[in-house]
Amino acid sequence: MVYSLAPINTKDYDGTMVVLYGNEVSDRNLPLAKRELEYLKQRREEDSKSIVRFDRLPNHLFVVNFDSEKQAAQCQEQLRRSAAKLVAILDTLKVDTIAVTAEGTLPEEMVAFLEGLTLADYRFDRYKSQAAHHIAKVTIDQAFLKQEELDANLRLWNRIHWCREWVNTPVADLNAAEFAEQLETIARDMDHVECTVFDKKKIESLRMGGLLAVNRGSVDEPRFVVLEYKPAVAVNAKPVALVGKGIMYDTGGLNIKPDDYMQEMKSDMAGAATMASVLFAAADNQLPVHIVALLPMTDNRPGFNAYAADDILTMYDGTTVEVINTDAEGRLILADAIAFAVDKYNPELLIDAATLTGAAVRTISTFGIAAMQQNAANPLSLLKVVGEQVYERLVEFPFWEEYDELIKSDMADVKNCGTAQAGTITAGKFLARFAKQTPYIHLDIAGVAYFTKPQHYYAVGASGYSIRLLYAFLQTYDLLNKSR
Ligand code: BES
Ligand code: ZN
Ligand code: ZN
Repeated sequence: MVYSLAPINTKDYDGTMVVLYGNEVSDRNLPLAKRELEYLKQRREEDSKSIVRFDRLPNHLFVVNFDSEKQAAQCQEQLRRSAAKLVAILDTLKVDTIAVTAEGTLPEEMVAFLEGLTLADYRFDRYKSQAAHHIAKVTIDQAFLKQEELDANLRLWNRIHWCREWVNTPVADLNAAEFAEQLETIARDMDHVECTVFDKKKIESLRMGGLLAVNRGSVDEPRFVVLEYKPAVAVNAKPVALVGKGIMYDTGGLNIKPDDYMQEMKSDMAGAATMASVLFAAADNQLPVHIVALLPMTDNRPGFNAYAADDILTMYDGTTVEVINTDAEGRLILADAIAFAVDKYNPELLIDAATLTGAAVRTISTFGIAAMQQNAANPLSLLKVVGEQVYERLVEFPFWEEYDELIKSDMADVKNCGTAQAGTITAGKFLARFAKQTPYIHLDIAGVAYFTKPQHYYAVGASGYSIRLLYAFLQTYDLLNKSR
């Protein structure tokens, strides 16, 4: 999709035009006859979110109604969803060029609409003989947006696009080595970004017992990728560490996933893809925050020498772990990455994103993120507020000490899963012990990383959900220092 800013004269624009239409607007600028205006008013009264179409063949005029008196976040989300509806209509009409202007609309509402348009236009159609219909060209009324603001948003949306491509790509075409190589190639061309890739030998020398154990059943080597974005001027003295689960495919290992539980498990590296994308977006737009991303990668398979239940592993920090179930593999590779982050970077805040538990999906469905924190109440409060604003929401689960009992092991320091109860929390608790005193936020994104049904502006497949959240969080990160 190509976006450009230009003046748009509503009265004599020759092409398909979209007008966002908030409250308190004068009708003066709409190219509508009196009867049409009455019709529009009536449709708006019936449904304040309606999209009203006037045919000016071969062109069309769309009026996208929205209630601008609602709370800002609600209003913006409404516009993202309406944009998705419009994308579907343009699809059936085979229209690929539009101009967008507005009445009674704020710049951030315009941005939300464009965001919805961009996210909704995405399809994973690289493998289709016939590509899906896409919007080719969007001209935006320059009265609403500055070029820099548009460009910054486009760079963020581009990173979301690439995250979705990675997550949607089957493991046969994207294993750990290939993913690491792509990240390295991208980082090479960026300012203030360094990428270091550890291969199996290096991972062995670092004694990352969790990552190595999970990798044992695979014919493909593991990778551990470290990305660092260090701007010339940063608001933080110590880095923010972003850890992402990079299970390229999760078969469950020897505790193999039954029947259709294995489906969609190509998305089990969404945490790593998300964190890489967030770091790249922050660097693209030169946010003044020093960030490191730590991305452990392997697939989880029941190959010949696969790790087994009852194995006792020694992790990077020396903690021993009794394996109860080889399908609780994400926490094993994350534990090494978290311990490594704490040891080598002494971060002021550590956040992980992981498609960690089916229990998270069962608890809150696909409507948000299950979040937990240890020594990070303030950062999580800010993250929560930001989440409401960008509509990538999270809910905090408790981290009471009683949950630690559920993962005590008879044979080792800790076991990799508890009983059927509170599976999302015990998974988080397992990870939290590797963060030690470092302020730590755990984001279980199992419900939102990959949709099996279309959801508003997300088609079936990877969503990139959490990138906008974490990017907006880093954008406002300075607020945390001020509140200290
Ligand atoms: N990758 C899965 C979690 C998952 C499930 C993500 C469904 C997205 C959708 C994870 O590795 C896993 O298998 N977790 C187990 C843990 C259990 C063995 C303690 C689970 O949730 O069943
Ligand atoms: Zn698993
Ligand atoms: Zn997994």
